[in-house]
Amino acid sequence: MNPLGAHYLVARAERIDVPAAAERVEVELGCADAKFSFELAARRPQDFVVGLEIREALVERNREWAQRYGHTNLAFGYVNVNVDLARVFAPASVDRFHVLFPDPWFKARHRKRRVVDPAMLEVVATQLRPGGELHVASDVFELALAAMAELEAPEAEALGFYNLAGEWAFTRDNPCEASSRREDTTLARGLRVWRMRYQLRTPGAKQTP
Ligand SMILES: C[S@@+](CC[C@H](N)C(=O)[O-])C[C@H]1O[C@@H](n2cnc3c(N)ncnc32)[C@H](O)[C@@H]1O
Repeated sequence: MNPLGAHYLVARAERIDVPAAAERVEVELGCADAKFSFELAARRPQDFVVGLEIREALVERNREWAQRYGHTNLAFGYVNVNVDLARVFAPASVDRFHVLFPDPWFKARHRKRRVVDPAMLEVVATQLRPGGELHVASDVFELALAAMAELEAPEAEALGFYNLAGEWAFTRDNPCEASSRREDTTLARGLRVWRMRYQLRTPGAKQTP
């Protein structure tokens, strides 16, 4: 699957309406089998969890499972994060985005296919509520560092992102009561998860991490 292939460049992601009663809205971008989203929705019935994925067969499968197991606080949708995420949520409607082990694109020549890029950060900043968060994790240090470089750039700072662990610092612990399939296999192999958490500044507030 090449997210820059012609089929995936056509914007067609659909709007997901968030129930007004939801306490928080948590969104997993590139959810694959959505183990993380299913677990989070089960642990937090008061919240609304959304799993978005570019592979349409997985979106269908996840929808079927959510219906079969009666998860009413869980929704799934198609997205190409780098093409049509802007269509999915209203401005200032999401509390946290999770980008977990996103990129199979290790080579420098595949840099353009990476999920965390300046355009994606602009959309995420628009859709996050003030004080909302972007949580990114990877098992590949170079890719984690590339994502961090985007988030530490002056452009991202101007959007309001700041690192909860301090500039250029990784966060050790998973902030959620849920883990993704890839996180489980990474930890089972005794490998390190490179994790970062960036909060969106509340306008007017002086914030120190
Ligand atoms: C390595 S898997 C990780 C899945 C899951 N988050 C986990 O941690 O187990 C990366 C997922 O991101 C999806 N993906 C890659 N690029 C994407 C894009 N531009 N938009 C949406 N999903 C994307 C892939 O299809 C794949 O399912």
